[in-house]
Amino acid sequence: MHRTFFIETFGCQMNKGDSDLMRLSLEKAGFIEANTSEEAEICLFNTCSVRQHAEDRAVSRIESTKYGKGGRKKIVVIAGCAAQRIGDDIVKSGRADIAVGPYQSPMIGEIVKDYIENGFKCRSLFVSQNTEDFQERLNEGLINSREENPWHKWVTITHGCENFCTYCIVPYVRGKLISFPSERIIQFIKDLAAQGIMEITLLGQNVNQYGQDSGDIPFYKLLEKTAQVEGLEKINFLTSHPMDFSTEIVRVMADHPNISRGIHLPLQSGSDSVLKRMNRKYTMKSYMDIIEAINRTLPDYAISTDLIVGFPGETEDQFNETLDAVKKIRYDEAFMYAYSPRKGTPSFKLEEKLSRNEKIDRLNRLISLQREISLEKLKSRIDKTENAIAERISKKSSEEISGKTSLNHPVVFRGDAGDLGRVIPLRITEVRGSTLFGEKI
Ligand code: SAM
Ligand code: SF4
Ligand code: F3S
Repeated sequence: MHRTFFIETFGCQMNKGDSDLMRLSLEKAGFIEANTSEEAEICLFNTCSVRQHAEDRAVSRIESTKYGKGGRKKIVVIAGCAAQRIGDDIVKSGRADIAVGPYQSPMIGEIVKDYIENGFKCRSLFVSQNTEDFQERLNEGLINSREENPWHKWVTITHGCENFCTYCIVPYVRGKLISFPSERIIQFIKDLAAQGIMEITLLGQNVNQYGQDSGDIPFYKLLEKTAQVEGLEKINFLTSHPMDFSTEIVRVMADHPNISRGIHLPLQSGSDSVLKRMNRKYTMKSYMDIIEAINRTLPDYAISTDLIVGFPGETEDQFNETLDAVKKIRYDEAFMYAYSPRKGTPSFKLEEKLSRNEKIDRLNRLISLQREISLEKLKSRIDKTENAIAERISKKSSEEISGKTSLNHPVVFRGDAGDLGRVIPLRITEVRGSTLFGEKI
């Protein structure tokens, strides 16, 4: 009875990593993964709270899941960031049976087992962040993670965030900054490389703050040590905060060609006044200084960003400053959002003057500008030579291979299974949609 489970994951890579831990823990406790949530007797929802829409989507999935075929009641678990915020209410109202926070992912198997064995008593369980044990299991989860790209692993280097950007819920649901010990991280990356992993992404809410809590080495040194691991072809890092992005990072990148030339540097807004109210702790000038340092040091790179429009009090002129910044910086890619008020964050108390439609209108104007720039930048790659890691046979044709270039653009080229897991030099020939096409040199 109640043996099969299914995990549905919302939100960012942090949650995907936690879902791997949940899967591992449930399998260890004797549960079996089902192919769909319809088939499963235990349905787990690893939720996101970053915008209201993300939370609503997860809650509506939870509400429609309680009963399976023939009206049989399922066990419903709300986990992750939204669980930390509203999980208790969801359990009390009977919409879920168990609520757990992000830091209980490695113990979920035992929790569900206990719930079944002790006669189905609804419960909410939240623990604060821990620690050593979590890191051990995290590594185990990563090794067993099922990623679309078999040559890549995400490596979490920090948990939590203490930056308290005024719009952001993450510090409240994920807790304070915890850096995992650098020696363990490097050893783990060496083990991954020895197993044939070619590419990793160092992961944290602000990787540039690595070590500030624990007195460990600074981020640029961790990056340098990672780049020196034998066999690693590509190292990415996510997310960088402009307030901590040092010139040392740029220097380490220049010294190590195996560090990805795809840089993600969230700007959020092009207006100093809005940035100040967002508590981002940098200005357009200091952001542009970083861009100039990158321009001076790296001959070729791609840059992406996150942008929020319609922050409370954002005037039309301030929004235009964001458009101007986008025109000037010319991002290869941008993740763009309409501001979503999150209860419990400082900006939630600020009065919003814009209607939902006005925010969406600004968002659409920004998206259409960025689309043009993205396409122009992709087209500028035509006739260039790029090295790409061949990841998998293309979904569209068995004679095509898909992968990513060192600037992190998706690329497709004619090839065969023998190319997989190798670095292939390509000449870029055309752009279709947001994908580059190339031919082997
Ligand atoms: N730690 C990263 C950073 O500082 O850039 C990413 C944090 S968040 C998971 C990803 C993005 O969601 C943010 O960069 C921001 O653009 C967006 N975001 C966060 N809170 C938001 C909110 N309340 N409304 C709209 N977008 C939001
Ligand atoms: Fe949120 Fe800011 Fe932390 Fe990013 S740095 S997770 S936006 S508080
Ligand atoms: Fe990620 Fe959403 Fe939590 S973006 S950290 S899953 S609030």
